[in-house]
Amino acid sequence: MLKISETDEIIFTPELLVKFNEILLRYPEDRQKSALLPILHLVQAEYGWVSSPLMDKVADFLQLKPIEVYEVATFYSMFFLKPPGKYMLEVCRTGPCCLVGAEKIMKHIEEKLNVKEGEVTADGLFSWRGVECLAACGMGPVLQIAPEYTFYENLTAASVDELIDRLRLTTAEKAQIIL
Ligand code: FES
Repeated sequence: MLKISETDEIIFTPELLVKFNEILLRYPEDRQKSALLPILHLVQAEYGWVSSPLMDKVADFLQLKPIEVYEVATFYSMFFLKPPGKYMLEVCRTGPCCLVGAEKIMKHIEEKLNVKEGEVTADGLFSWRGVECLAACGMGPVLQIAPEYTFYENLTAASVDELIDRLRLTTAEKAQIIL
């Protein structure tokens, strides 16, 4: 994944441009806006989030106004407008999950990670946020972890602790193998 700051100038790699063009070929010539969502997904997979300069470059590539890209990227919650932690915990905060304790789970995550919603832990590993219905309303409270979108149901404070501790341990073990 390529690391960028909010202000870094963007030059798409030739490999990424090839993928963009493959996507463009799926649509009629005067309908390049239809390629916007899959291209934004590719951009996020490459950079980890979508900065304003990235959205501007996508607009250039698709010959759109920047506002047309911003409208889409800010509407869908799967696009990150600032860098998330390595693991972004997304907790369903819609009614049915709230009835079975989603708000307590979010409070617990905030206290365990010691960061507010949208912030990143000092080690860069975790961030969290509330999102709308994750389509597992009978199994709440639920969360998914972006960007792989692994899914966890029937959460309790203990199962959240176990999940976070396991992710920390797994990451530390992988780092040791690389060293
Ligand atoms: Fe939480 Fe639908 S309300 S998954």
